[in-house]
Order: sequence, then structure tokens, then C-alpha cells
Amino acid sequence: MSAVRTDVKAPAFDVERIRGDFPILKLEIGGKPLVYLDNAASSQMPQPVIDRLVRYQTTQHANIHRAVHTLSEVATAEYEEARRKLARFINAREEREVIFTSGTTDSINLVMHGFGRKFIGAGDEIILSTLEHHSNIVPWQMLAEEKGAKIRVAPIDDAGELQSGEYEALFNPRTKFVAVTHVSNALGTITPVRQMIAHARARGVPVMVDGAQAAPHLTVDVQDLDCDFYAFSGHKLCGPTGIGILYGKAATLERMQPFKGGGDMILSVTFEKTTYNTIPHKFEAGTPPIAAAIGLGAAVDYLSAIGMDAIAAHERHLLEYATAAFSRMAGVRIVGTAANKAAVLSFVVAGVHPHDVGTLLNQYGVAVRTGHHCAQPVMQRFGLPATSRASFAFYNTIAEIDALVDGIRNVQKILA
Ligand code: ALA
Repeated sequence: MSAVRTDVKAPAFDVERIRGDFPILKLEIGGKPLVYLDNAASSQMPQPVIDRLVRYQTTQHANIHRAVHTLSEVATAEYEEARRKLARFINAREEREVIFTSGTTDSINLVMHGFGRKFIGAGDEIILSTLEHHSNIVPWQMLAEEKGAKIRVAPIDDAGELQSGEYEALFNPRTKFVAVTHVSNALGTITPVRQMIAHARARGVPVMVDGAQAAPHLTVDVQDLDCDFYAFSGHKLCGPTGIGILYGKAATLERMQPFKGGGDMILSVTFEKTTYNTIPHKFEAGTPPIAAAIGLGAAVDYLSAIGMDAIAAHERHLLEYATAAFSRMAGVRIVGTAANKAAVLSFVVAGVHPHDVGTLLNQYGVAVRTGHHCAQPVMQRFGLPATSRASFAFYNTIAEIDALVDGIRNVQKILA
């Protein structure tokens, strides 16, 4: 692998020691060392999280909140301890403000059904942004269609920066809700979400933040942000799939209707009337993903021990190095050049379809995502059907970016 750039100084961060915690990073793909750069889709799991899942399954598993036997009490205590860990991770005021869901998509749908269907009506307006993932567009369109409400969209500029002035100009007395991403999954843009929330709250408009791409990379403080809702996923945060979080302010959650009905979300049931459980249980119908929640608790312990600020600094270094290297490559264009970005690099190679870029990079062991990244409006904004996307995590290295750059040079030699 040729070193592309030597003048960018690495911050002190023992990435090799960290990589030792991730068994999957030792894999070879087609005889080449795996270079895993698809972390925005799903991150990998360190051994302490794997061990925690095994310990739970081998010594602690039972259903929760339902029985007085020892295993059920142990599983319940561990599940609720995981909730406390997640509350601390995002600095929620109270642990009952943390609801376990199956992922960000489920969290957003919970807000749409629980809040939107109760409080948004005909003629009301919902503000989104061009940067949204489909999971933060489609549920609101379904609501708008059902209720006769209207979607308004805050635009982005050619760099992929959200246009704050135009966002603010969308507000009027019919504005009832804002749903906006913290970090764009397709471009990496970090949105000015704190100011956007302040603007909405000053007008009495609640805000839901899609934090799926932010929680793995930035320190998230929901009290400082002052958002009503914050949604994110476990599997992008070194945890298991099938688990996610919806943070909601307690007073807002209390006013909402449940999304799913079933066991554990009730206090009493007769055929005449059901009384719902208190929050957060009102929103956790049925047997939840107990093991996954406990695994996610271990994942945020792991990340917190490294430190989210140290993670952000290392990833910033990777992004700067990769951006500089890409900028020097003829025939390669970065899509999304916002000043404030998380570790996502979307790009196009002149004359080569992104799908072919991804397929050929895979032959060199390099895993990137290609396509529209479930963000077709972003692609439309740039007049592109698709991009290739390298997305970094704290366990990635400069040598892996060199491998990506070498891979792209080979793609150009063979296909461009
Ligand atoms: N939302 C995930 C991504 O951006 C799947 O790849």
C-alpha cells in the first residue's frame, strides 16, 4: 500500500489495540485483508459485547417484567440497567425517557403513530430536510396522506449544507412538527441541529432528531439539544441488530398514544377498557429484544470507555486524510463537501458506475456501499442516480484509506 499523505499528524489513539477487540476485522475477503468501510450501514461488534451476549444467553436469560423466579428477576434487572446506561450515554434527564425499539426506523414510526396521529391534522405542516433518509420521509408522508397535512422541505446547497435561512422561512402558524437528521447518511453533513431545534421550540413546535448517523460519532446530549425526540440504532453503535432507542421528553411521551398494543404495555385490561402502563413500558408492547438491549448497554460502556471525543477526533483525522487524498485524484469527485462533516465520504469515479466501483473494490477486500443510500432526494439534488460511499469508524486506519485509494486507482485503470 502506498502512503498517500504524510503531512497530516495522527492524534494519540491506539487504533491497533482497539482493532484487537474486533474479531471480524481479522477476516480476509477473497484472500485480501478485509477493509471494512461500510460503517454507516452497520458497524462491527467488539469482543466485550459478544461476550456480554453470550453471558446473558448462557446464564441470565428469561422473560422480563413477568415472573418472580430468579432468572426473570435477573433478566429484568439487566434490561433496566441497560436502559440506565443508554440514558447516561445521551444524558437523558430520566431513564423512563428511553424507550427500546427495534431500530431508528421503528423509533420514527413510533413518533409518527404515537405523536403525529394524535396531534397533527388537516392543513398542518411538517418540516423535513432534503438530507433525510427514507425512514424519516416515508412515515411523515403516510401521516400527511392520512390526515391531509403538508410536508415542507428545508433545502441544501451544492456542498450539502442545510440552508438555515430557508429552513427558518418555512415556519408559519400551521407548522406542527419538525423531523430532521443530525448527520446525513449519504453525505456526512452535520446539520446545525441545535439552532434548528431552538428556532422551532421558540415557536412551540416539537422536534424529532434522526440521530442514526450521529450517535456513533458525536457526543449526544439530549438535554443540551433540547429536542423532544432523538432516535438511533444499536447496530451502528457496535451493538446488535434489532435494537434501537427512542428518547422522548417525559411530558411529551405521557401525552402520546401507544403505537403497538399488547402485553406489558398495560396496567389493566377488560373487554370494556384497557388502562395503559406508565412510560416507558406503554411503548414496549410484547417481549422486547432483551438480549439485544443488554448487548447495546455493553456497547455504550465500550464506547464510553474509549471516549466519544477521542472517537470523534480519530474519525476526523481519517476523514481529513481521505478527503485530501481524494482531492488529488483525477477523475474522482467527492459528493458532499460541507464544512462540518462526520466520517462519510461519498464519491463518484468519472466514467464508472458506482455499482462497478463497489464490485471491483470488493475484489481488493474493500467494503463500501454503493447506490442511493436510501436517500433518493439527496441523489436527485446532485443529479446523480447513485454514489459510492466509504464510511469510517474509530477502528479504521490510515493504511485502510490508502488501500481504498489504491483500489480506486485500480478501478480507474481497469474500467475508466
Ligand atoms: N441507513 C443505512 C445506510 O446509510 C443502512 O447505509
